[in-house]
Formats: sequence, structure tokens, C-alpha cells
Amino acid sequence: MSDLSLAPDAAAALLRWYVDQGLDEAIGEEAVDRFALPSPVAVTASVTPMVAPGATPAAPTPIRPTAPLPPRAPVPLESPQLVEDAREVARKATSIAELEAAVRAFEGCALKRTAKNTVFADGVIGSPVMIVGEAPGADEDRLGKPFVGVSGQLMDRMFDAIGMSRERDLYITNILFWRPPGNRTPTLAEQAICLAFTRRHIELARPKLLVLAGGTAVKAVLDTTEGITRLRGKWTTLRLDDGTEVPTLPTFHPAYLLRTPASKRQSWWDLLSVDKKLKDLGAR
Ligand code: URA
Repeated sequence: MSDLSLAPDAAAALLRWYVDQGLDEAIGEEAVDRFALPSPVAVTASVTPMVAPGATPAAPTPIRPTAPLPPRAPVPLESPQLVEDAREVARKATSIAELEAAVRAFEGCALKRTAKNTVFADGVIGSPVMIVGEAPGADEDRLGKPFVGVSGQLMDRMFDAIGMSRERDLYITNILFWRPPGNRTPTLAEQAICLAFTRRHIELARPKLLVLAGGTAVKAVLDTTEGITRLRGKWTTLRLDDGTEVPTLPTFHPAYLLRTPASKRQSWWDLLSVDKKLKDLGAR
């Protein structure tokens, strides 16, 4: 480590400031001083200095090329081709185990490079209810399971209130399998790549019904621009590529409920609606 020469209090204050800015992950042993990196001039150029009339022009002074940049690790380009690749790989999976192996082996999503773990799913395969959230946070990234942090604990308590648990009747995943650094909003390209797998995930899991937790999951899975406030609590049908149709309920994300407890009332109606739908479908 370079010598930071900071008093412990100042170092702690600096770390707190980083966390406040969303920088809550150390992804390398050494901080990179990007101002100290050589500028990326790749070619030798020459300039002809201005000369006074009658004077002998000096020989052109070559501009010395700066040292070449250190080789960069290949960054996968999040292009439409990567989305196609993801679809192709996902389509070939004929079981959830195969799909999980394919997701873990997939190198086309840049988020994987900064995440500690691939967060695939938790709960019971074959459950009547599948929950799809947005993206792993710090706890999920550390433990490799979706919804294990505070918002996941709230979600567990909510489903417990209608007698359902991830040990028995829930199967849980996210539209993203890797934590976006600092919990930033996933880009559309990152969402599209992971979504190819998530759609296949739903096909293979064959839940009786799907619960989409939060606006990002709703927009991505239902391919809509409509906001969560308009869509929550309204059943819709998700049509998948293999022709499967799944009754789907958009609901608030538990992290939103932690920030806005007054909305828990609406989420309670959503839970009752899940319970009723399962009964109507003969699944309870
Ligand atoms: N929020 C999500 O959307 N998913 C998780 O797994 C955790 C928090």
C-alpha cells in the first residue's frame, strides 16, 4: 500500500465519505491515480516550429510518444450481439441446473468483473410463486443469494404473513445476476443481457404466478415504460418465448417499503391478492 499518512480519524472520515458517495466496494489492493496515468498518445507526430523570416528553420522536433498504456483487461462490449449470445446460450439450457451453469460461465456482462459472486436464485425450484427483483446488493453479493439483506428480510416477513416461505413455497431471483458496483442503476444493456437468462429462468421454473418486485424488474420483464405506481397491484399476463403464459403481479420493492412505510398497506393488499390467486388456481 502507498503511504497515506492519514490520522485514523481522518481515514475513517474519508472512508465514510466514500460510502456516502456509493463507493462501498474495494475492487483492487491499490487505488489507481488516473491523473498519473500517461495520456493515450499512440503515434509519433512532428511539428514545424514557426521561424522568423530569413532564419534557418530548425529540424522538426519530434513529439515523443508517451509510454504505451498498460494493457487493459478486455472489457466485453455490451452490444446487441451480447444480448443475442445470451439468448442463444439461455435457449440451450433445458433445466434450471443447466441454466445456472450457463449463467456462471457467461462472460458477456461487464458487471461480473466487479462482483464477488454470481447471485442466481434461492428458495425451492418448482414453487408456485416466483419472485423477481432487481439486482443483488452488497449482502447478496457477499453471500451469493438473492434478497438476504434488510430488504430481503422484510420480504420474508411479508410472505410469512400469508404463510409462505422461501424454504417451502417461494423461488427467488433477480433480473441481474451480478451486483452493479456501488448499487448503481443497471444500464439497459446490462439488463437486456441478464434478462435473456431471466426469461428462460421463468420458463424453466414454471411458477403458477410471478411477483415482480420494484419498478426496474417490472419495466424489464414486462417490457414497459409504465411506472410501478400505476402498475402495482394489477395482474397481467407474461407471455414467454415458449408460449408459456404466467399470471404476473407487479408490486413495490421491499427497499422502497423500508423508505416509505406508509406504502406497506398497498403491499399487504398485493399479498392478499397473491394468496387469493393461488387459491383460485388450486395451488393452495
Ligand atoms: N434488492 C433486489 O432487488 N434484489 C436483491 O437480491 C436484494 C435487494
